[in-house]
Amino acid sequence: MTRVTALVTGCAGFIGSTLVDHLLEDGHTVIGVDNLRTGNLDNMSLAVKNSRFKFIEKDICKEDWGSRIRAEVDIIYHLAAISSVKLSVENPLLVHRNNVGSTMNVLEMARIKDVRRVLFSSSAAVYGNPTEIPISEDTPVAPLSPYAASKIAAENYMRAYSRTYDLESVVLRYFNIYGPRQAYSEYSGVVSIFINQALAGLPIIVDGDGTQTRSFLHVDDTVRATRLAGDTAAAAGVTMNICGEESVSINRIAEQVVKSVREAKSEIVHGPARVGDVRHSLGRMAKAHEVLGFTPSVSLDAGLAETVEWYRNLLKS
Ligand SMILES: NC(=O)c1ccc[n+]([C@@H]2O[C@H](COP(=O)([O-])OP(=O)(O)OC[C@H]3O[C@@H](n4cnc5c(N)ncnc54)[C@H](O)[C@@H]3O)[C@@H](O)[C@H]2O)c1
Repeated sequence: MTRVTALVTGCAGFIGSTLVDHLLEDGHTVIGVDNLRTGNLDNMSLAVKNSRFKFIEKDICKEDWGSRIRAEVDIIYHLAAISSVKLSVENPLLVHRNNVGSTMNVLEMARIKDVRRVLFSSSAAVYGNPTEIPISEDTPVAPLSPYAASKIAAENYMRAYSRTYDLESVVLRYFNIYGPRQAYSEYSGVVSIFINQALAGLPIIVDGDGTQTRSFLHVDDTVRATRLAGDTAAAAGVTMNICGEESVSINRIAEQVVKSVREAKSEIVHGPARVGDVRHSLGRMAKAHEVLGFTPSVSLDAGLAETVEWYRNLLKS
């Protein structure tokens, strides 16, 4: 395997920090950039002990964000973003500036420094309420939230830079990713919210009637797909869904969490539906399978049980 120097934006976040650990484990050199907006230094506790890792605390919306990077970078994994649909509805301008502006700055640095490949973490949110299920990459995009619109704009800049400047771009449309290190707040993912409510002995609050469905993918599978997309020559210029293989209702997630958190028999209650939320989201993963040879390996029940244990230990520490 060729060792590379990889730049990871959003390196202190949930998926970014897991990616950093995997890249370091395989002997690569990693420069990580994060402004710690939602990221957490604890997520990098393993990485910072490694001499092949360098952390730069910086806001990548600032044009000079790359000024401290002297090394030649082979590949950029651009994961930094404000990833909350809810926050984008409350403050669309903030999310636009952060998600689109940062992508422009990353692409500019790639262009100027002659970086070979840039990967971008887009989202299933771009499909809105899809016209077909399962959703393929050819399903029309139809943003329901400013967050989704920011991802489409950033995707388009990726494609434009790729065509104009001969840069290899790869767009990964992540669906619902869950697992250890996902932050817990009212803005975070449903799995981390439900687990933390249950561990605190609080009722689990399902937004809407809970029959809305998603395809969940464990963070380790997500990182494996992302690494394959970074390493596979044929992935250049491709947009791919990265998702779980089954459609799961939010009610089922709530029930499974109650089962896994054995000590607290939380009640499941229903609140108002979220603005900008899509009803159903199940991706077709044929392209990731065909181009990368990727198939998920962590089952939902095993992944949820492991994630519950992780939060349980976190609360004890
Ligand atoms: N988690 C999911 O289910 C999911 C689904 C679809 C897409 N995504 C995308 O994957 C990426 C990673 O998501 P995550 O769940 O790990 O989110 P996260 O919030 O844990 O990580 C994002 C990281 O980016 C950093 N960041 C944000 N703006 C920045 C800026 N201007 N400068 C520097 N750092 C900045 C944050 O501090 C954080 O550490 C995001 O682009 C997100 O939109 C995630």
